[in-house]
Amino acid sequence: MKKIRIGLFGLGTVGKGVVSYLSQHQAYIEKTTGFTFEIAGALVLPAEAKQTGFSFPLHTDAQTLLQDSSIDVFMELMGGTTLAKDVIMEALQNKKAVITANKALIAKHAPEIFQTVNANQAAFFYEASVGGAIPIIRAIHTSFNGEPITKLYGILNGTANYILTAMLEEKRDFDTVLQHAQELGFAEADPSFDVDGYDTAHKLAIAIDLLYKGVTSLDDIPIEGIRKVSLCDLEYAQNMGYAIRLLAKARQVGDKVEASVQPTLVPKKSLLYSVQGVQNAALFHGDSIGDILLSGAGAGALPTASAVVADLINYVQNRNYLTPYSLDKINITPLQEREQAAYIRVEAEDNASVFEEIIQLVEKEGIIPKYIRQYSLPDQRMHYVILTPVLTERKLQEVEAILNNSEKITQVCRLALFF
Ligand code: HSE
Repeated sequence: MKKIRIGLFGLGTVGKGVVSYLSQHQAYIEKTTGFTFEIAGALVLPAEAKQTGFSFPLHTDAQTLLQDSSIDVFMELMGGTTLAKDVIMEALQNKKAVITANKALIAKHAPEIFQTVNANQAAFFYEASVGGAIPIIRAIHTSFNGEPITKLYGILNGTANYILTAMLEEKRDFDTVLQHAQELGFAEADPSFDVDGYDTAHKLAIAIDLLYKGVTSLDDIPIEGIRKVSLCDLEYAQNMGYAIRLLAKARQVGDKVEASVQPTLVPKKSLLYSVQGVQNAALFHGDSIGDILLSGAGAGALPTASAVVADLINYVQNRNYLTPYSLDKINITPLQEREQAAYIRVEAEDNASVFEEIIQLVEKEGIIPKYIRQYSLPDQRMHYVILTPVLTERKLQEVEAILNNSEKITQVCRLALFF
């Protein structure tokens, strides 16, 4: 049986997950692939170097692994965009195969990484970077390769989805639920990546690059997180038949791609409505195939390890499917031109004339609200909830500014409405 030696960079949640996954599935993998896999060594932080119980040596110097010519494939599972980038680039320049789960790194440095991949004809795999165990990258590459995907909607961050689900189910506030999410081990080292939408944007950028055959700059993707979503918004949305989800969106409009990450009201009829807790999902639409939903475990040690090991097996079986790669810049629609419907919640005095005023302010802008509802608050205040028709971002910002300028209005919260 052919032995494949692995150099492991990082022995955190995902690194340990891979060690455990390979050991749990060893007999099955050997039987079905004819290969046996061995970890040659792992790079760890100095503080972790005294750990015991591993069948391979722990190193604190990346060069010990990079210079080991007995290693066939490197796995970069430590995250971050500094040392991780250096080791990946060096391994690729040495024409070694690299497997990574590092979404932030690929999203930020796609042109440089893929140039190096192409120049060295190296194998580079990153299924685990988007959606954990869900084969999103593989589906785009090998299943939708003849189908122009006109829309992708994704729930790509388990922590954010867990927070939105748990706040509503358990009537708990954002901070308490975030703390629990961190204890579950899904949150990023810096949870602002999860709740402020950056992690979702990294994954969206990787998917857009593959779907639209080029590279996108993260700076072109408008990113909003979930901190602005209150429990009352989740409840009002539920009353209207919607769930609020942090959605990654990409739509082809003419020769441009409209992309964004936003908390969005998703209607019951959407396949994404019932994606709960830490689950992730990607909903693809193509004119010939209709809607395809892929959903499941988007984070966690073993689900992510399953994607890493799948890449490993694909590599040794010569399925180097991630080339060629175009480095053309993808044309992202400027934010002001983006079109969408909105949910607007206004907090103001409990007074019939205020309600009239809000309606007049909105209608003066030529907007006939699709839905208006009032909710009484305990302190003589009201929430007025408005659903708008599809408008440009420019128009929505104008309306929001007008409402914010009214002296009687104390708060305006705007979220996207799925369409
Ligand atoms: N922090 C990420 C999440 C981990 O919550 O989905 C997987 O990328």
